[in-house]
Amino acid sequence: MTAPGRLLFGGDYNPEQWDEEVWIEDVALMREAGVNIVTLGVFSWAFLEVDDDVWDWGWFDRVIALLSEAGIGIDLATPTAAPPLWLHRDHPEIIPVDRRGIRYFPGGRLGWCASHPTWHAYSTRIARTLGERYGAHPAVRMWHVGNELGGGNRICYCEASSAAFREWTRARYGTIDALNRAWGTAVWGLRYRSFDDVTAPLASESGQNPSLLLAYDRFSSDAHLDQYRREKDALRAAGVQTPITTNLMLGVGGSVADYATWAGDLDVIAIDQYTLAADPHRERELAFVASRARGLDRTKPWLVMEHAVSAVNWQPRNAPKRPGEATRHSLQHIAHGSDGALFFQWRASASGVEQYHSGLVPHAGTDTRQWREVVRLGGILDRISEVAGSLVEPSRVALVADLPAKWAWEEGQKPLNDHPLELAGRRWHEELSARGLVPDVVPPTADLSAYDLLVVSGLYAVDDASAARIADAAAAGATVVIGHLSGIVDEENRVRTGGYPGAFRDLLGVFGEEFAPLLDGERVALASGAIAVDWTERIRATDAEVLDTYAEGPLAGLPAVTRRRVGAGQAWYVSADLNEGLGPLVDDVAAAAGVAPRVPVVAGVEAIRRVSGESSWLFLVNHGTTDALVPADGYDLVAETPVSGAVTLPAGEVAVVRETPRE
Ligand code: GAL
Repeated sequence: MTAPGRLLFGGDYNPEQWDEEVWIEDVALMREAGVNIVTLGVFSWAFLEVDDDVWDWGWFDRVIALLSEAGIGIDLATPTAAPPLWLHRDHPEIIPVDRRGIRYFPGGRLGWCASHPTWHAYSTRIARTLGERYGAHPAVRMWHVGNELGGGNRICYCEASSAAFREWTRARYGTIDALNRAWGTAVWGLRYRSFDDVTAPLASESGQNPSLLLAYDRFSSDAHLDQYRREKDALRAAGVQTPITTNLMLGVGGSVADYATWAGDLDVIAIDQYTLAADPHRERELAFVASRARGLDRTKPWLVMEHAVSAVNWQPRNAPKRPGEATRHSLQHIAHGSDGALFFQWRASASGVEQYHSGLVPHAGTDTRQWREVVRLGGILDRISEVAGSLVEPSRVALVADLPAKWAWEEGQKPLNDHPLELAGRRWHEELSARGLVPDVVPPTADLSAYDLLVVSGLYAVDDASAARIADAAAAGATVVIGHLSGIVDEENRVRTGGYPGAFRDLLGVFGEEFAPLLDGERVALASGAIAVDWTERIRATDAEVLDTYAEGPLAGLPAVTRRRVGAGQAWYVSADLNEGLGPLVDDVAAAAGVAPRVPVVAGVEAIRRVSGESSWLFLVNHGTTDALVPADGYDLVAETPVSGAVTLPAGEVAVVRETPRE
């Protein structure tokens, strides 16, 4: 993907929006900033295949030659995120249909159904044609299938999707009896006679079976993965040998894809990550998303394929990033294991939907604070380029998070229908991070054996195999913390009966009798002083110590937090959603697990170490508003100064200390 010892720097380049003189300036400015790769072609389909099987390559050849002569690498996209208007006019049947059965209109992007055979034919033809033409081009370093495949896509409910879903259910369940059992279709008499009765869950006049809805979510994820594979196969068949990936939407915006099941098909884990201007702690959300990227494959560096250098255009209020913030964000991604920093987009568009989205080159041009920051960032990436290829120091702490578990919670009617399951996980991640424990965020299917502390938060749906792996980790010595609303249903969204939380009841030695969700604004104190919101539960400790109890309300005096010794490890249960006072509990579980920070812990400073062989680099990002003194020894590659004992990190600044090898 990249030359050894080189971090990638660049972003989406959309030259079709500009006259050719601008391309010349673009390439000169790319060189000035140190850009070494651009993502090309994402939205170029209408300019490459100008009509059905009518091609115009001249301009693309010229752009590629310009970039190539300037030594700028290309991440070439199959342009399938943007089907041309002629294709929609000739084949409107490829456009997705919403839950009401209404087809969308042309005029946006991602207007295709992943299950439609006509779409398959056109999308693989353009992928193959591009692969044949540019697959061997030395400037093309990697390939980018579509854009945010499975991210911005709509779930489609058309006839072709229904037909594909029928086949998917046939393969998953084998017999219609097995499907009826798995989905519990006796409720409301929604029994299927044969697979011919199975359809996409278009909007009905009332609520629908949560098992059907979850199955359709899984099917949609698989349909988009198949689309990725189809285009990847077309590229490989055309002779492409360089890495192929797509940019995953792990953060804000979400996805219709369970990317944990995609990771094995991606040559590089690449992600897009956007911060919300209204989130005062957006750097923590970034850290969470970056930890998820790392958790998808801990054996190699990943890549932030898109983030924004400043404002975006799609939030209610699009404040620019503060001076220095873009640099901190890029460095945070690299600290968390990204081998570069790529942006959407190179030059801010003058027109179109994204005309107010920032670009590395702003509307105002280069005599701007922002451009100067971009050039400085390019310089920093060049100075720290020796970190390329290294990995984040293996963590002993992981948070288990799962998208299908969130789908299972959100599909159907629940005890709380306005409770975002993922927020508790993010709070755990923040508290663990604040203690210098650098948690990975991993799917339940990951190898959990390397971790001493495992926090399982919001794993509402879990299959037997994953539940067993989690229990095995405890038996083998890990401290496992199970948070509220975990292990309640199986992978088909059916309640595990016999006492909550069914999947973890024996592991925890507790018996949950009754959920006790709280009303909006209700707060319940625990004896420790921690505060529960949203969720409490009536539990008995059948084979566990009680560490904390509810201090008020109908559950007063009953267990809230418990612990059971299990083999060489232990299993803790946190039955409430603690939104205040989680910190002391995190201290307790970290102490129980015997995990201590391996990076300096200084308020406001994010510290992460990357390692390779004998070398190590300590990344320090000061998110605070005051200068910080951080213990370190070595050489700061950003400031180009030796560090002895401690580095003084001004407010908002970054340092990357090549550490003096320890004796
Ligand atoms: C991403 C997308 C880009 C651009 C960007 C704007 O989700 O991949 O093409 O639209 O959002 O923030």
